[in-house]
Amino acid sequence: MLALFCLISLAAPLTYAWRPSQPRLHFQHSELVRSGRLMSLSVPAGDLNSLLPGEDGRRLYIGMKDHLLSASLDDITQTPRKIYWPASPDRIQNCIMAGKTLQTDCANFLRVLELYNQTHLYACGTGAFNPRCAFIPTNLFLRAEEQMLQYEDTESGKGKCPYDPHQRTATAIIDGELYAGISSDFLSHDTAFIRSLGERHVIRTEQYDTTWLQGAEFVHVAAMSESDNEEDDKVYVFFTERAQEAEGAAGKVLYSRVARVCKNDIGGQRSLVHKWSTFQKARIVCSVPGPDGIQTHFDKLQDIFIQRGKDKKNPLIYGLFTTTSNVLNGSAVCVYRMQDIIRAFKGNFLHREGQQYKWTEYTGRVPYPRPGTCPSSTYGGFKSTREYPDEVIFFSRTHLLMQEVVHPLGGHPFLIRVGVPYKLTRLLVDRVEAVDGQYDVLFIGTDSGLVLKAIHLPKASGQNQEITLEQLQVFKNKSPITAMTLSKKKQWLFAGSAEGVVQLGLFHCDLYGQACAECCLARDPYCTWDGHSCSPYMPTARRRNIRQVNDDGNPLNQCVRQGAGLQVDAEEKTQVVALGNSTYLECLPKSHHATVTWFKDIGENSLEQHKVRSGEQLVVIDRGILIPRAELNHGGIYHCQLEEHGFRWTAVTVRLIVWSPAPHPTLVSSQPWYQDVMALINHGKLERHCKEFSQRHNNKESGNHKHNKQDRKRADRHRHRGGGEKEKGRGRKNRSRMQSSAQRLPRSA
Ligand SMILES: *[C@@H]1O[C@H](CO)[C@@H](O)[C@H](O)[C@H]1NC(C)=O
Ligand SMILES: *[C@@H]1O[C@H](CO)[C@@H](O)[C@H](O)[C@H]1NC(C)=O
Ligand SMILES: *[C@@H]1O[C@H](CO)[C@@H](O)[C@H](O)[C@H]1NC(C)=O
Ligand SMILES: *[C@@H]1O[C@H](CO)[C@@H](O)[C@H](O)[C@H]1NC(C)=O
Repeated sequence: MLALFCLISLAAPLTYAWRPSQPRLHFQHSELVRSGRLMSLSVPAGDLNSLLPGEDGRRLYIGMKDHLLSASLDDITQTPRKIYWPASPDRIQNCIMAGKTLQTDCANFLRVLELYNQTHLYACGTGAFNPRCAFIPTNLFLRAEEQMLQYEDTESGKGKCPYDPHQRTATAIIDGELYAGISSDFLSHDTAFIRSLGERHVIRTEQYDTTWLQGAEFVHVAAMSESDNEEDDKVYVFFTERAQEAEGAAGKVLYSRVARVCKNDIGGQRSLVHKWSTFQKARIVCSVPGPDGIQTHFDKLQDIFIQRGKDKKNPLIYGLFTTTSNVLNGSAVCVYRMQDIIRAFKGNFLHREGQQYKWTEYTGRVPYPRPGTCPSSTYGGFKSTREYPDEVIFFSRTHLLMQEVVHPLGGHPFLIRVGVPYKLTRLLVDRVEAVDGQYDVLFIGTDSGLVLKAIHLPKASGQNQEITLEQLQVFKNKSPITAMTLSKKKQWLFAGSAEGVVQLGLFHCDLYGQACAECCLARDPYCTWDGHSCSPYMPTARRRNIRQVNDDGNPLNQCVRQGAGLQVDAEEKTQVVALGNSTYLECLPKSHHATVTWFKDIGENSLEQHKVRSGEQLVVIDRGILIPRAELNHGGIYHCQLEEHGFRWTAVTVRLIVWSPAPHPTLVSSQPWYQDVMALINHGKLERHCKEFSQRHNNKESGNHKHNKQDRKRADRHRHRGGGEKEKGRGRKNRSRMQSSAQRLPRSA
């Protein structure tokens, strides 16, 4: 009886409620491999920083430690071509002498990998704290023997690549020039945003001026057009830095930022020579109000994805953030509109009178042309930033920070993960034409080797609802995902970690089930019910026209419209138990969004059913019904009913036969009843809790309040004794596992 209580009290937190942030389906690494959705290239990468699809759509370039790889985009498992690019031996010596570590510092960690032109890549490595860069002809990978890049084939990487591989770096090649957010010195004190490589003179942020940048960790660089006038084109850079305007007695505060410069900025004439004269920055916020009204900030930017839709000038910007607080262990995705970022740059400036003053809004006169404006023949007639009046240049130097803060769409994160044993690391977005409209599908990598797949309806401004469709364990040893890329054409996702590179199918429609309702409930924009099965959706002009955009949000309407019916076939099972023995009726919904309810037929020939509730002789838990001691009246037909999105169906029907072995009274099992059941369920935590609960109770009864280690040891010994019992238990465990895995697999046609 007490043990029953124990189970009931445990069952409560295990009960499923529909929680949007809970991934609907979970896939283990082995399942993904078995179903052919996941392929792996194991390379002892140690450090894998970039995955870059080639322009021809056939090769995937991989930047690692001392190596540059070219793998097949169609089949990652094919042996990749390699270029060996080590740091020079004397640099390695110097690096070690400077007190650095051979494995983690004194090698050539590739940190920049870009497509330069149709025939060449541009790549840079840290070169054992002596950064080097090189143009790499892609046909070098075609040679059969492994290639080696000599020191003479490379050029100085200063201002293009960090010295220290642990410094976060963001780069982009735009019109043949390299824009790099890096720490540009040996000690990583000078964080800078630098343009180099083209015909023009190198240009950068002011050096060692903390109002420009302070301890910046760069995440992303992208070119953006704001108008049809090319002279107005800008380059944006996203990063996290120490926030000058917020720091005080409390010490270091981190803010995430978006900054921008004009593409045609060449610096000032008398001041800001070879420095950006249009550099401006604004804060981007991703936070949630706590119960006390105080905002919890996801302050550290981890990744940015720019989703350029039809309106090229107004992309959606997806930002992935984590908290620096170790207590919270949280991550979030916030979505920003380009208009909102531009508005912040049109707003007022912050300034301060001097080092000891506070930052305040600047309300004085702003010189003309307004700092941050790109030189243009259409307004003002300035041919270049060198022609700007000194007053403008001087103002620009000291008014870099905007007062307005950029808030996310809807004012709050679109996805939050808090209190989970992982943090989010990388983000990709695929815009998908689905049967019921357009979706943005997010693929998010974690530091535990998972990929999460979530959907976002880009049109529903303000009403962000996140649905995480899948959680996929893509790296066997749970290595943090450090790079991701997607081939839209081939419908593959590539993810990299210290274990190597994996190639993952974006979807696997036929795994959702054989009924229309199961296909629709999956809500996977890549999949649709084609009248016979759940299959990939191919948008065609005709079908696109009849599409109804997002209906009323009920995914089942599609089946109703198609007249497909909502019938889902139930699995049927028969279970036999001896009178007095324990048994367990199991129901494992694939979907973690489904709730489970059990019903039992009232009589053999009755259509009436009653809901099964926990009582003294039977316990209903999250995935099944426990019967500690079977009685004759436990026999009958049980139905496991699932409910998801308001739709109910029977997943499993179990006929339970209680069998009376002999006329003799029932034998009472020598071991505690719950161990019998444990053999059936495989729920280690439950057992420990129950055992402890029983022991606590027993101890109390005998007046002994010390339920100590010895009791536990004795119990363990008891459990591990007796080979016969153990064998029997294992046999049953295997059977129940087989049943459950059969349910998880697609029911083959
Ligand atoms: C690409 O750039 C490299 C390095 O500057 C140059 O040698 C090569 O000719 C260029 N290729 C094309 C097709 O422009
Ligand atoms: C926080 O996340 C890390 C992985 O990033 C994990 O190892 C740790 O257990 C998590 N802590 C909590 C309290 O969830
Ligand atoms: C019922 O339990 C007893 C004791 O654990 C065991 O010996 C017996 O084989 C079980 N009967 C069946 C049919 O499983
Ligand atoms: C049960 O599983 C174990 C490993 O988990 C295996 O060694 C054993 O052969 C299995 N027994 C049956 C009857 O399948």
